[in-house]
Amino acid sequence: MEHFGLFLSLTLLFLSPILSLTDVPELSREPARPLAFVPHDRSKSEPQQVHVSLAGKDHMRVTYITDDKKVESVVEYGKQPGKYNGKTVGESTSYRYFFYNSGKIHHVKIGPLQPNTTYYYRCGGNGPEFSFKTPPSTYPVEFAIVGDLGQTGWTEATLSQIKSQDYDVFLLPGDLSYADTHQPLWDSFGRLVEPLASQRPWMVTQGNHEVEFFPIIEHTTFKSYNARWRMPYTESLSESNLYYSFDVAGVHTVMLGSYTDFDSDSDQYQWLQADLAKVDRKTTPWVVVLLHAPWYNTNDAHEGEGESMRKAMESLLFSARVDVVFSGHVHAYERFTRVYDNKADPCGPIYITIGDGGNREGLALSFKKPPSPLSVYRESSFGHGRLKVIDGKRAHWSWHRNNDSNTLLADELWLDSLSTSSSCWPSNGSTDEL
Ligand SMILES: *[C@@H]1O[C@H](CO)[C@@H](O)[C@H](O)[C@H]1NC(C)=O
Ligand SMILES: *[C@@H]1O[C@H](CO)[C@@H](O)[C@H](O)[C@H]1NC(C)=O
Ligand SMILES: *[C@@H]1O[C@H](CO)[C@@H](O)[C@H](O)[C@H]1NC(C)=O
Ligand SMILES: [Fe+2]
Repeated sequence: MEHFGLFLSLTLLFLSPILSLTDVPELSREPARPLAFVPHDRSKSEPQQVHVSLAGKDHMRVTYITDDKKVESVVEYGKQPGKYNGKTVGESTSYRYFFYNSGKIHHVKIGPLQPNTTYYYRCGGNGPEFSFKTPPSTYPVEFAIVGDLGQTGWTEATLSQIKSQDYDVFLLPGDLSYADTHQPLWDSFGRLVEPLASQRPWMVTQGNHEVEFFPIIEHTTFKSYNARWRMPYTESLSESNLYYSFDVAGVHTVMLGSYTDFDSDSDQYQWLQADLAKVDRKTTPWVVVLLHAPWYNTNDAHEGEGESMRKAMESLLFSARVDVVFSGHVHAYERFTRVYDNKADPCGPIYITIGDGGNREGLALSFKKPPSPLSVYRESSFGHGRLKVIDGKRAHWSWHRNNDSNTLLADELWLDSLSTSSSCWPSNGSTDEL
């Protein structure tokens, strides 16, 4: 299968110049870069594609893949290198996609773990040691955020810039590998992100590139995504890996699914309503939502694709006083003011499109003219964002444009949590502060 993958990779590599970009006036926006295929260079029994994710209070899920099905689903861990006081046995899965057979995909949930602490761990009973740091339980906490990552030379640039400055949790609003049914590219993506994703929790939601429906051949949607990127949905009382939530320090993060039902009678809608109702803004003053297809977008690309979901769910987010909504899908950066129902509203979320990770399709270069007054900043460049939450009231958002070896701060904003705004909570009494 790896040869088949290589063949496809080369095909994509030759296709990529066709996707080259023109029509770039003021900034040096560079064309799409070729696929960065990461070959399999470990033994069949050695864990690979290691990544970690948050799995409910004080727990992390360690995911790894082995070709050898005899390797156990076991993670040993401890606070000192080579000294493992903890040992947990987990579960495993695998899947078939047409002629492709996946390796053994192991998921091991470990804990309880202490916050803001480095743990050293080993997967499958042998193999190399990895380490991760758990997020802090108090402020400050920093999220690195980027969608539409893919696996090209630009993805490598984005990842190296994310890695160059520490962060606590990685958030990805959909479109991971761009495998697009070519399953070996999922394995390559797992190897590409392992250096980062084995060290900090990577929390993802799905995009259109995760659906992988194939007429006649494969009717189960999200087959590879759900098998490989298991997220804490049971931990957040969701019935589906396609939507879930989690808390880090004082931030409640909700991951929604743009490509599963969202109407008011859907499971996702009912779950979201119940999840938001449980949020106590005194313990989690911040509420952040991620989804793939943007509800607000002034790029010509994907115009209107998030509209039916917006119509179905926007009032839920507005009533809950969600602080920020991040989306991907459009391969550009765009930041809106606080919005509700297409109008500026001081109690609505800030909408940010951050689909600029560096995938093979290149940038979405054409924005509507004249610009909407709701859209504050828009630019077609690859890059990533950072949300640094200082305390229960203040957070700093920054967008870093990729510029080869440098990372440039291109847009930034200080935001106040809506939980501190008495005018947005008229029925909560007249207390100004929490
Ligand atoms: C996390 O640990 C680091 C290093 O030990 C420390 O400097 C930092 O203040 C801690 N952060 C929090 C939020 O406790
Ligand atoms: C990118 O970096 C180069 C070299 O460091 C610099 O000359 C150029 O102005 C930068 N480009 C942008 C768009 O800032
Ligand atoms: C306002 O009251 C609602 C309902 O009791 C509660 O869910 C919410 O957290 C409160 N908001 C703040 C900022 O305390
Ligand atoms: Fe997309």
